[in-house]
Amino acid sequence: MISLHEASYTYPNGGVVALDSMSVEVGEGEIVGVMGQNGSGKTTFTKLLNGLLRPTSGSVFINGRDTSRYSVQALAPHVGYVFQNPNHQVFANTVAEELAFGPLNIGHTPEEVAERVAEAAEFFELGAIMQLHPYRISFPMRKLVGIASIFTMRPQVFILDEPTTGQDHKTSSVIDRLILRLGERGNTVICVSHDMPLIAHVTKRALVMWNGKLIADAPPREIFSDKLIMERTHLTPPQITQLSMRMPGRASRPGALSIAELVASVRSEAMGDPILPRSTHI
Ligand SMILES: Nc1ncnc2c1ncn2[C@@H]1O[C@H](COP(=O)(O)OP(=O)(O)O)[C@@H](O)[C@H]1O
Ligand SMILES: [Mg+2]
Repeated sequence: MISLHEASYTYPNGGVVALDSMSVEVGEGEIVGVMGQNGSGKTTFTKLLNGLLRPTSGSVFINGRDTSRYSVQALAPHVGYVFQNPNHQVFANTVAEELAFGPLNIGHTPEEVAERVAEAAEFFELGAIMQLHPYRISFPMRKLVGIASIFTMRPQVFILDEPTTGQDHKTSSVIDRLILRLGERGNTVICVSHDMPLIAHVTKRALVMWNGKLIADAPPREIFSDKLIMERTHLTPPQITQLSMRMPGRASRPGALSIAELVASVRSEAMGDPILPRSTHI
C-alpha cells in the first residue's frame, strides 16, 4: 500500500535534509506507529505520503501510484490526512456539513453521503452536536470531528498526526477504538505519536525516526526494550513496560505492554512456564 525507496526530502532555500534516504514498505491493514523526537522527520514523512511534498530524490508509491505524478487532490481519496491541529482543518458551519464536505466534493450521491455521515456520527458519538458550529464545541470533540471528516472520505490509508494530543480520556479511547477498527476493515493506518501507551495498544509495528533517518522498524515491545534506541530518541516506554522490566527476575523477559498482559505473564510464570523469547506476543 505504501512503498518508499530511498526517499529523501530537503526543504527549499538551503534547508536541512528533513528525510534522509528512507525505504519502507507498509501493507494493507497494517497499523504502524511512527515515533521520534521533535524535528526527527515524522511530519515530513507523512507529507510525502499524501503528496503535499514530493521527494527530492528517491520515490514514494501509494497503492502503486507514484506520488510525484499525482496531485494532492488526486491522492486525497486514497490517503486521508488528519492534521495535528483540527483548527487547521475544520471550516464548515456545522459539524454535519463538515462531515459531508469531503465525499460531496469527490462526487458521491447525496444518499451515499448521508449514509457515510450517519455512520461517522454514530461511531464518533457526535449525534448531539451535528448541528453546532465546529468552533462552538470543545477542542477534543473538534479533533474527533476532524478525524470523522476524513473517515467519511473512506480512504485506504489514514495518516494521523498526534491523534491523542490535547484529548481527554473519553475521546482518546474513541481514537484507540477507531484505529483498531480501521485495521480490521483492511485500512492502512500511519499513526505519528508521542503517546507510547497508544502505540503499545494499537500497533504491532513501529518506526523510529532520528535525525531524518529511519533507525528502527520493529514491534513496539522490542523498541521499548531497546535501551540504545530509547536513549538516542529521548523516548520513554509506557509506565507499565518500565515497571515490568524493573520487576525482580524479569530483566531477561520482554516488557509488558499492558497491565492485563503483565498480570497474565506473572501468573503463567507462577505456574512454571518457561521464559518466553524476547519478541513473543503474549
Ligand atoms: N517548512 C519547513 N522549512 C524548512 N525546514 C523545515 C520545515 N518543516 C520542517 N523543517 C525541518 O525539517 C526537519 C524535520 O521536521 P519535521 O518533519 O517537522 O519533524 P517532526 O515532525 O518529527 O517534528 C526539522 O529539522 C525541521 O526544522
Ligand atoms: Mg511533526
